[in-house]
Amino acid sequence: MNDMKKLIVANWKMHYGPVKAGGWIRAFRRERLPKELDVAVAVPFVSLAAVRASLGRASIPALAAQDAFWAESGAYTGEIAPSMLAEFGVSACLVGHSERRLHLGETDEMIGKKAVALQKAGISPVICVGETEMQRKRGQANRTVRTQLQAALKGLKGDGRAPVVIAYEPVWAIGSGRPCSPLDAKQMHDVIRPVLTKAFGATSEAIRIIYGGSVDVRNIGEYMTTTGIDGALVGGASLDPRDFGLLCRAAVPS
Ligand code: 13P
Repeated sequence: MNDMKKLIVANWKMHYGPVKAGGWIRAFRRERLPKELDVAVAVPFVSLAAVRASLGRASIPALAAQDAFWAESGAYTGEIAPSMLAEFGVSACLVGHSERRLHLGETDEMIGKKAVALQKAGISPVICVGETEMQRKRGQANRTVRTQLQAALKGLKGDGRAPVVIAYEPVWAIGSGRPCSPLDAKQMHDVIRPVLTKAFGATSEAIRIIYGGSVDVRNIGEYMTTTGIDGALVGGASLDPRDFGLLCRAAVPS
């Protein structure tokens, strides 16, 4: 993935087994995509092989996973090591999505360990951070995101072959149809940026900070034209390949 381009990541969440996943890729390959855009699709583990097969020689969208474990191998029943994902040609992986924090009890420490393991395997960790509605109401949004981020960045490199991506996804905006305004998202990205600079120095400039939460074809343009927002993480609006193609085209002014 090119650091200078905007990045759109589709997150299918728990949708599409191998059969439907293959169909999605074949349909999406017919979409015309702007050259100025990096596009990745984060799919369930069991669909990685079908997606890879349907992609053939195509390198777009880049193949991404939705989670990985921190150990290289061992007695961790049900888990998947980053090196296994690398064998599939996975180039990016979500880590710390709020749905995993909520339903599976993932902690900042676990997320940090996963991010380090991914980067070691040559996979870009897409680190998800974001406050709940209650935390925002109480004026704790900035502190929450800073704390999540600092924990996740421990041990990571700011540059190298697997650059970190930060996804700001306020929990209250996810799947709610109530997106965070581009201005509010920008304000949080402006909180995140100095944390990256402190952690990585000048190399942090190449790290993309993308926004996620009820992004769709109608609002993507506004986010992409807002300074400080380097892309989007898209859930529901990525499930239809043609609609997602439209969204990608709407992300780049023609
Ligand atoms: P929605 O786009 O469905 O709100 O989901 C956002 C998200 O959680 C992407 O990771």
